[in-house]
Amino acid sequence: MPTFEDLKVFTGNANPRLAEDICAYLGISLGACEVFKFSNDNTFVRILENIRERDVFLVQPIAAPVNDHIMELLIMIDAARRASAGRITAVVPYYAYGRSDKKDQPRVPITARLVANLISVAGADRLLTVDLHAGQIQGFFNIPVDELTTVPMLANYYADKGLTNLVVTAPDVGAAERADDTSKILDMPFAIVEKHRIGNEDRVESANVIGDVEGKTALIVDDEIGSGGTVIATAQALKKNGAGDIYCCVTHPVLSGRAVEVIENSEIKELVVTDTLPIPPEKMGSKIKVLSVAATLGEAIHRIHSGMSVGAMFE
Ligand code: R5P
Repeated sequence: MPTFEDLKVFTGNANPRLAEDICAYLGISLGACEVFKFSNDNTFVRILENIRERDVFLVQPIAAPVNDHIMELLIMIDAARRASAGRITAVVPYYAYGRSDKKDQPRVPITARLVANLISVAGADRLLTVDLHAGQIQGFFNIPVDELTTVPMLANYYADKGLTNLVVTAPDVGAAERADDTSKILDMPFAIVEKHRIGNEDRVESANVIGDVEGKTALIVDDEIGSGGTVIATAQALKKNGAGDIYCCVTHPVLSGRAVEVIENSEIKELVVTDTLPIPPEKMGSKIKVLSVAATLGEAIHRIHSGMSVGAMFE
C-alpha cells in the first residue's frame, strides 16, 4: 500500500525526454511546472498544480551546464517543500561532481559532498540515482539513497548480441567491480588496464594490461565517458596486447570536448550508453547506441512510492 498520497513527477530542463519516458512507464502525465531563467540570469520555478501531501519526484540529472542544472534542482526542491509536498525525492540519474569525492591533493574541495549537502538542505527527503562514480558517495547524504545499476541491462545487451570469445575490460581499478559483475553475467573472463591520469587535465595514459586479451574481442566497461581519453587509451593498450575487435559500454554519456570525434576516429566499433544524460544531435556520432533507463527508473519510483523493495529489482 502506498504510504503517501498520489505520485507526481516533475522535470527541470536537464533531460525532459527522460522524465516523459518515465511517466509513460508509470502510466501518468508529467506534472505541470515552469522552470526558466529571467533576463537577469535568475532561475524561476513555479509548480502549476496542487502537490499538498503528494509523493513528489523531481527528475533532474546534472547534465551540462552542470551548475545551472544543480541550481534548478535546488530551486525545484525548495518550491516543492514550500508547496507542502508530502515527500520529495530528487531523481538525479547522473550525479556530476562525483569524481570530486576525496581530498587527494592539498587544498582541494570535496564537491560531491558539498552538492549532497545542498540537496539535503534544500529539502529533499530521498535521492534516487544511477551508477554513482563511487558507491561511497551514498554516505555523503544523510537522507536515504537508492542507487540503481545499469550493469544487467548493458550486459544483457551484449549477451543478446551473441559475442563470443569476449574479455570484459576495466579501464582502471575503479571500474574493476563493474567489469567483474558484467563478466559474471556474460560468463566471460575479465581484465584490468592500469591507468594514469596526467595532472588535473583530460590526458590519460594506459600501461599494463592485467589479464589475457590476446586474440579476444574486448568489451570496455565504465561508469561514464567524458573526453573519451580513458576509453581511447584503454583501446590502444588492448590492441598493443593483441586484442581483436573492441566494444565499449558506459552508463553516462558526458561526451565533453572532442569526445565524439575521438571515438569516431578510433578503433572502437560501437559505444553503448544510456539516456541518463541527453545527447544533443550534433554529438550523436555514428558509433553511439543509446539504451534507455526510463523503465528502470520508472519501476524504482513505483516501488519507492508503494513501499516495495528496490533491491529486489536486481536480484
Ligand atoms: C574515472 O575514473 C571514470 O570512471 C571515467 O573513467 C572517466 O570519468 C572518463 O573520463 P574521460 O573520458 O575524460 O577519460
